[in-house]
Amino acid sequence: MPIINRIADFADEITSWRRDFHENPELQFDVHRTAGIVAEKLKAFGCDEVVTGIGRTGVVGVIKGRLNGSKKVIGLRADMDALPIEEATDVPYKSKVPGKMHACGHDGHTSMLLGAAKYLAETRNFDGIAIVIFQPAEEGGGGADVMVKDGLMERFGIQEVYGMHNMPGIPVGHFAIRPGPTAAAADRFTLVIEGKGGHAAQPHNSVDPILVASHVITALQSVVSRTVDPLDSAVVSVCTVKAGEAYNVIPHQATLLGTVRSLTPQVRDLSEARVRTIIESVCTAFGATAKLDYDRGYPVTVNDPEKTVFMAEAARAIVGDTAVDTSVLPMMGAEDFSYMLEQRPGAYIFLGNGDTPGCHHPAYDFNDSATPYGVSLWVKIIETGMPAR
Ligand code: NI
Repeated sequence: MPIINRIADFADEITSWRRDFHENPELQFDVHRTAGIVAEKLKAFGCDEVVTGIGRTGVVGVIKGRLNGSKKVIGLRADMDALPIEEATDVPYKSKVPGKMHACGHDGHTSMLLGAAKYLAETRNFDGIAIVIFQPAEEGGGGADVMVKDGLMERFGIQEVYGMHNMPGIPVGHFAIRPGPTAAAADRFTLVIEGKGGHAAQPHNSVDPILVASHVITALQSVVSRTVDPLDSAVVSVCTVKAGEAYNVIPHQATLLGTVRSLTPQVRDLSEARVRTIIESVCTAFGATAKLDYDRGYPVTVNDPEKTVFMAEAARAIVGDTAVDTSVLPMMGAEDFSYMLEQRPGAYIFLGNGDTPGCHHPAYDFNDSATPYGVSLWVKIIETGMPAR
């Protein structure tokens, strides 16, 4: 079965919503305009309940099907926030807000889930309850976690939950999914190395934090190459180095910022332990002091194997067998839908965005021709996951 016809009929309307969101990007939890429009539309579509302010600016819509005895409740989730990037496209609906743009396609995600809500509220061709979840702050704020902590799952009785993200490089009309770890855990650290400043011509009277930092950076490379099993995946990247001001002064301090990524809790624990030990030991060896802040960020996004099969099957029903890749490699990027998948079984799928610049690139744009596929998949999940009787 191709795209659902009724959805193709109002794809242009969904695109107009998307472009309006694109012109008016908002960051983190400050998605007041977007959340307001989402809530307004859900009410206009006739959702049975629309709740705002969950997870600060999150919005939830409840759509009851025919309720012929099924008590099943399925959650579908989209993210609403943009990024602090100056847009470098020349599309007519380019961002009107300097320094902010929808560079990850969350404008498309929000619009597609709105489209699904409109269709589901109109047709109600399922036996159970569909919950549409619109979250703030996917880009670094952990909005999904905040919604979960606000009682999202219990309050609406959600039993399974599904997420979707566009993916540049995958053709439009294709989907990709995998069971198990799909997106990485992302942790970060700030290290301040305290040495002893002094005259560059008298290094013996100082403890040079730049030399110590250099050894720390080099030694940290052994975590991935010599500590983690080569068949597992991990990333340790030092991405910021700050120290010194002059040609002839040994500074007092050096600061390093970095990220640590992994795909399993075991590798996550192992990497953190090694990073801590290496930093502490190297600094001590050189007579410097390490002040380390190590913060755990988003956990690993883990697809439930059974729900992955179900979601892939729903995707095949839309685009056919050959357009659904079920063995796509995991990505070392992170996704805060992981917090929802820690609470309930479910799965996260990639939707082809075609040959476009990558997510978070200033020339990126969500591909509107992918919209009917995404909306049709959402509807299919509800209609086949809770078939009408
Ligand atoms: Ni994103």
